[in-house]
Amino acid sequence: MNIVRYHWCQIRLRPICLSGCFLIILLAIPAYGVCDEQAALGARWPEAVPLVVQPCFPCHGPQGRSGSPAIPSLAGLPRDYLEAVMRAYRYGGRFGTVMGRLLQAYDDKAIGVMARYFSRQPYPLQKQTTDWRLADRGRMLHRRYCRDCHGDLARPAEKGVPPLHGRWMDYLRWTLRDYLVGINQGDEEMAEQLRNLLRRQGPEGLEALVHYYGKAKP
Ligand code: HEC
Ligand code: HEC
Repeated sequence: MNIVRYHWCQIRLRPICLSGCFLIILLAIPAYGVCDEQAALGARWPEAVPLVVQPCFPCHGPQGRSGSPAIPSLAGLPRDYLEAVMRAYRYGGRFGTVMGRLLQAYDDKAIGVMARYFSRQPYPLQKQTTDWRLADRGRMLHRRYCRDCHGDLARPAEKGVPPLHGRWMDYLRWTLRDYLVGINQGDEEMAEQLRNLLRRQGPEGLEALVHYYGKAKP
């Protein structure tokens, strides 16, 4: 008796089940359509990148995500900062091995377009090998000397100030040196904090900060 009822159920349920499957397929067809459209949009994506930023990609990486430790990523840096720093390379006040000369070919309007584009890309955190003892000391030093302006992963930087977490360590080392010797003329207060740090903590204090930023943990 039980066996018969079981068969009856199976037979009655089968058409329902089959029509259910058809329904799912029917519903899925428009969804495939949407997926196709999105894929097509994705495929068209490079056209949306302003022409003027494309010569930057070989060095700064696609969308400004640099794969080379000596070259900074541009993605997600504040727009005001990018604009100010490019003008400084172009007109003086900031040292660059290549950027000073390269930016001679771009006017302020192009600089504005480039700053806008890169500031809208997601900010990457580079994965790097760090020394945990130095990074620990760096965390303390960052709080004392740098956090008020640069923020950290839990607290955003002040408007227009570049974040330092997850940046390439080699780039940070060189750039800090450029500020210290004065070929980068940045914020007056920052210059004073850097001098205080160096006087009280020595060069190892700077290295500790670089490891803390490289570790990218609050
Ligand atoms: C030949 C490689 C190269 C190319 C091409 C290049 N850059 Fe750079 N860029 C560098 C290097 C190296 C630095 C570090 C400063 C220096 O040494 O000149 C840098 C630094 C920068 C910085 C400073 C970032 C920061 O964190 O302060 C900005 C902004 C920048 N580049 C924008 C651009 C833009 C926009 C383009 C495209 C027009 C571009 N760069 C093309 C190599 C390059
Ligand atoms: C009073 C605010 C302030 C303080 C404090 C400060 N900074 Fe800065 N920092 C800035 C500003 C503003 C800039 C952009 C300057 C420029 O245009 O060159 C900057 C830029 C930088 C850059 C360049 C980033 C890049 O993308 O090239 C580094 C590296 C840096 N700061 C490190 C530090 C360190 C390390 C400390 C702590 C010892 C510190 N700063 C303290 C305001 C500050």
